[in-house]
This record gives sequence, structure tokens and C-alpha cells, in this order.
Amino acid sequence: MTRSVEKVAIIGAGPGGLAAARVFLANSNFDIVLYERSQNVGGVWYYPPNAPHKDTAMYDELETNLCKEIMQFSGFPFPETAPTFPNRTHVEDYLQAYFHTFIEPNSRVDVRLGCNVERLEKINGSWHIYAKHSLQAVDYVVVANGHFDVPYIPWHLPGLEQWISQDPMSILHSKGFESCKFCRGKNVLVVGNGSSGSDITNQVSTTANHVFHSVTDISKTNWEANTAVTAVTTISELDYAHERSVRLQDGSILTHIDYIIWATGYMYDLPFLRSYRPLILGADCDSKPARRLYNVWEQLAFTEDPTLAFSLLCKNVVPFPLAELQAAVMVKVFKGELEVPPSGGQAALSGESPSDAANSSKNYHSLITPRDIEYCRELQALLDAHDSADDPFQPVRWDERMAALRYQTGAMKQERTKLLVKNAKEFREQNQPYRL
Ligand SMILES: Cc1cc2nc3c(=O)[nH]c(=O)nc-3n(C[C@H](O)[C@H](O)[C@H](O)COP(=O)(O)OP(=O)(O)OC[C@H]3O[C@@H](n4cnc5c(N)ncnc54)[C@H](O)[C@@H]3O)c2cc1C
Ligand SMILES: NC(=O)c1ccc[n+]([C@@H]2O[C@H](COP(=O)([O-])OP(=O)(O)OC[C@H]3O[C@@H](n4cnc5c(N)ncnc54)[C@H](OP(=O)(O)O)[C@@H]3O)[C@@H](O)[C@H]2O)c1
Repeated sequence: MTRSVEKVAIIGAGPGGLAAARVFLANSNFDIVLYERSQNVGGVWYYPPNAPHKDTAMYDELETNLCKEIMQFSGFPFPETAPTFPNRTHVEDYLQAYFHTFIEPNSRVDVRLGCNVERLEKINGSWHIYAKHSLQAVDYVVVANGHFDVPYIPWHLPGLEQWISQDPMSILHSKGFESCKFCRGKNVLVVGNGSSGSDITNQVSTTANHVFHSVTDISKTNWEANTAVTAVTTISELDYAHERSVRLQDGSILTHIDYIIWATGYMYDLPFLRSYRPLILGADCDSKPARRLYNVWEQLAFTEDPTLAFSLLCKNVVPFPLAELQAAVMVKVFKGELEVPPSGGQAALSGESPSDAANSSKNYHSLITPRDIEYCRELQALLDAHDSADDPFQPVRWDERMAALRYQTGAMKQERTKLLVKNAKEFREQNQPYRL
């Protein structure tokens, strides 16, 4: 059956899904169904107050790690009253405003909140979406379900399973972290030196007896100004029975550890995907989350069937403007104006041995500057080569000014972090928990 107007389903109304909705409304005449399992839009930034079970990677005292000028969507600045590094409530309000401005008023979009997509399947040339006991057939799908939802914890570490069986409450992932209050007077080990690990270590240092920060490269930590924190090497073994001890790679042993917070990152998961699953998640990942996706051209379109696209798979990028740029490319792909080269599906099924795959997988979607800038420019070049000048929506262009801002924002955040570390030291001296 062909529909008179083609339809796109967008799974997820976080920044990626909202950006896709805005761009598809502007640059195509497709109808849109926007599915969001939460009661509101915003993705990880939607942080309902007093929710009984927090189920998001967000936490109470969080400010952005990008300055507001670079973080913003195209032509939609943060309010002047928001600080240079807005806090999470500013971002939540900003995403609401974006939704109310570009998406909600448009009658071509059907927004379904509280609607979890349970199953996505290609049947007779249409994508079938099962959500909340109803079936919707569409022509194209944008998956924007985020990838900071399924925690990665190194379960292979000797002693970890036994530790959990003895004291499950003493082990948590950063996804479950809300504030530092539960750590008062405790010895805490925080693992991981991403944004979560470094920020949570600093926050916990205001209440804990002592914080150990386990990282892969100690030279990349800077705790001289905060004597409540000691940077240590990675963990080789845990031994709950012997003084709750943790042996480190350098041979030293930490004892009497009350809490371990694994700020060790996240896995990709597409639990609803039925068609093409082994090609996308890898042959050995049939029902499990994965560390990367396969057969995805330019980090966004499924090579074997480009009616399926993915938003914001990449890490270490500037997500909001990138999501719009990616969506502008997706429009061209879905309209058939931009051809996706087939990859033959080799990588996921036979191209890599399991050990090669494990090693290369972790950083496959990581685009550390300047790679992120190059990637945005690649996408823009594709648009420029495919008659995009007259498209009503124009993404942020990664010109010299944006590139310079990308470098500046890192340096500015480093300075800001020094202040946050100094503040933490003062809170500790005043016996106060961390706040922004
Ligand atoms: C703690 C933390 C701090 C961050 N700080 C910054 C920052 O300072 N600056 C910055 O730019 N970025 C930051 N990020 C990155 C952040 O992920 C992006 O800003 C942005 O939220 C990514 O958008 P997304 O739409 O891809 O994913 P998400 O925000 O995760 O949104 C995905 C949405 O999909 C929905 N969904 C998932 N599965 C389904 C389903 N089956 N059916 C229906 N709906 C579904 C989810 O409910 C969610 O609303 C931070 C991330 C975290 C975790
Ligand atoms: N606005 C903010 O301030 C803020 C705060 C928190 C999070 N975020 C965002 O949230 C997203 C997720 O960040 P994240 O920090 O949770 O995840 P992440 O960026 O994936 O970082 C995970 C960290 O864990 C480390 N790690 C993994 N296994 C380890 C082990 N066994 N021992 C020691 N270290 C180990 C990794 O080190 P290797 O890379 O060396 O393996 C990496 O540094 C990012 O987009 C981030 O920018 C932002």
C-alpha cells in the first residue's frame, strides 16, 4: 500500500529526535510521528523533580561542559540570562522552548509522549512500529534513542561479582548517581575519567572521608588543589572478604572501600529492532547491547537499507547542532537525492575477529576534536554538493569561527573546572555538600 504523503517515524524526543523533527518539517513534506517513552521531551535533560526512581544519567548538580554559544541549535540561542555554561535546568527549559517553537505547533507532526517503541520491523517494504498496543506503518525511521542509558561496567574484573553479592548497595554506576549526600564520611572509589567520573569525584569529595579516582592515565587528572582526592591506576582485582580491598594495576591496595561508583560509560542498545539486527549490532550481539554499530554510513544511514537512519551515534561531538546537520543529510537520503554506498555488510558478519572487534569497537563512534570538526565539514560538503542552498533550514556551518570556538570551549571549561574544584574544597571545609 502506498500512502499519498510519505511518513517518517522518529524514535526518541531528546535533542536528536527534536532536531530531526525540526529539520524534516522544514526541508521535506513528510508527515512525522514522534515517539517518546517519557512523559515529556528533552531526553537525558528531562529530569522530573522528585521522581521516585531516577532512570536517567542526569544528576542534580550538573552544568554543561560546552559553552552555550557552541552548544546551541542553529539560529536558536540560549537566553542571555543563562550562564556561559548553563546548568541542566536551563538546558531542559531550552529544549522545551525549541519543541514549542518548531515542532508542537506544526500539524504535520503527531507527538506521542509516554509511548515506548517496543518493536521495529520491516515488512513488505514498510517499517512497522509497535508501541502502546498499536501498530503504525511508515516509510522511513530515524532512531534517536540516545546511548547513555545502558551502563557499561567491567564485570570481568576478578572479585566484582562476589563483592556485589556481599553488599549490592555499595556498588553503583554513574547513571544512578543523583548527589553526593549519601557518601558522607565514607571511603569512595570512583572509576573512570570521562566527564561523569571527574565531576562526580569532585562532588563526592565534599562529603566523603576520602575519594580515590581510578583512571587509565593519571597524568590526565589534576587533583593537587583538592587533597580529599587521590588519583590511582586502574583496578586489577577486588576482595570484599579482606577488608573490602581493591588491588590496583601498580600493585598497591586500597582498603575499607565503602562505595564504588563506576563512571565507566555506556553501551549502545536497540532493544526494539527486529529486522537487520545482526548486520547492525554484530552477529554475536543478537539480544545484547553493543559497544558500536555496524554498516552505518557517515555515522548516520544504514547502508543495506537507507530508509533507516540514526541520530547522534557519535561521541565527543557538539550534539545539538550536529543532530540538525545529520538530519539535513537524512532528508536528502530519504528523498533519494543522496545515494548511500552499500557496504556489503561485511564488517559485522565476517570482517573482524571477535578480539579485533572488541578492541576497535570502543572508540569507533568517538570523534575527538579535530575529527568532529572534519566530520561536520564532510556532512556540510555533502549538502553543498546536493543543492541545499535553497533548503528552508540551514544547519550551523563549521567555518573558522566555529572551529576556533570548539577549541576555546575546551580551554574555558578547564578554567571553569579549576574553580569548581576550588569550590568543592571550600564546601568540604564548611561541611556542606557540593552545589553549583
Ligand atoms: C550526564 C550527562 C551530561 C551531558 N552533558 C552534556 C553537555 O553539557 N552538553 C552537551 O551538548 N551534551 C551533553 N550530554 C550529551 C547528551 O547525551 C546530549 O546532549 C543529548 O542529550 C543527546 O541527545 P539524544 O536525543 O541523542 O539522546 P537522549 O538525550 O538520550 O534522548 C533519547 C530519547 O529517546 C527516548 N527513547 C529511548 N528509547 C525509546 C523507545 N524505545 N521508545 C520511545 N522513546 C525512546 C528516551 O526516553 C529519550 O528521551 C550529556 C549527557 C549526559 C548523560
Ligand atoms: N556536562 C557535564 O559536565 C557532563 C557530566 C557527565 C557526563 N557528561 C557527558 O555524558 C556522556 C557520558 O560520559 P561518561 O563520563 O559517563 O562516559 P564516557 O565519556 O564514556 O567515559 C567513560 C570513562 O570510563 C573510563 N573507563 C572505562 N573502563 C574503565 C576501567 N576499567 N578503569 C578505569 N577507567 C575506565 C574510560 O576510559 P578510557 O576512555 O581510557 O577507556 C572513560 O574515561 C558524555 O557525552 C559526557 O560528555 C557531561
